[in-house]
Amino acid sequence: MSKIVIFGATGGIGSETARLLNKKGHHLHLVGRDQAKTDALASELNATYTTGDVQDPGLFASVAEDAGERLAGLVYAIGTLNLKSIKRLTPEDYMRDFEVNAVGAALAVQHLLPALMKHDGTASVVLFSSVAAEQGFTFHASMGMAKGAIRGLTLSLAAELAPKIRVNAISPSLTRTPLADGLLANEKMAEALSKQHPLGRLGETQDMAALCEFLLSAQSGWITGQIIGVDGGRSTVRKNN
Ligand SMILES: NC(=O)c1ccc[n+]([C@@H]2O[C@H](COP(=O)([O-])OP(=O)(O)OC[C@H]3O[C@@H](n4cnc5c(N)ncnc54)[C@H](OP(=O)(O)O)[C@@H]3O)[C@@H](O)[C@H]2O)c1
Repeated sequence: MSKIVIFGATGGIGSETARLLNKKGHHLHLVGRDQAKTDALASELNATYTTGDVQDPGLFASVAEDAGERLAGLVYAIGTLNLKSIKRLTPEDYMRDFEVNAVGAALAVQHLLPALMKHDGTASVVLFSSVAAEQGFTFHASMGMAKGAIRGLTLSLAAELAPKIRVNAISPSLTRTPLADGLLANEKMAEALSKQHPLGRLGETQDMAALCEFLLSAQSGWITGQIIGVDGGRSTVRKNN
């Protein structure tokens, strides 16, 4: 039985995706940072799990050991939202954002590659970029760099691992999750931000989970090397110009 591994399983998008995949009958291996939260979700979904921080390189070997010999898919739904002016960003900010968003994704694929290769059919990897890598926003220098790297990683791995493994990325705009709490806690600000999206609302975790599930399924069997915006049109559409 091949499982799907979800990094960031206790997060807004990760947990929504885990619940949807569970409903569709997939067997899951969850990776979380918080022991109690990860344990509770794993019990709810009858899943196995590993806990740890992706800035600890030892985590990836543990996940590879715990997740099983064959994997149908891998989701890396971990990220930071570190918004600072270029004047305030420190080398530590850049390194942390790059490690958590980009290096962690690369190490996850690298360590789980033998198990993904053993899957009977085509395995699927789903990474997360951001609208901030498609359009320029103030105070996003470190985020734009880190998420821009996901584009390069997705394209390179899609080439290197075809035809056995498909690799795609989802590029969300502002979505209601704990990550975005700082921006969305103020209702007036949330409303102003939702109006910046041509489709007139913020993203919901269900928007991301639905595409993630599709990209993991055989229905997307001829899609690889794509970075797909789930962003209410924000990256590509301008209204009333
Ligand atoms: N929400 C948005 O507006 C938005 C926009 C663009 C892109 N994205 C991307 O979408 C993906 C999912 O984000 P989300 O909104 O679901 O965020 P979230 O709700 O904050 O969830 C992030 C998850 O990652 C875990 N995590 C964070 N840092 C970690 C670390 N160093 N080691 C191990 N685990 C760590 C968190 O663990 P804890 O539960 O312990 O905190 C949580 O499970 C991310 O790649 C994010 O960059 C989100």
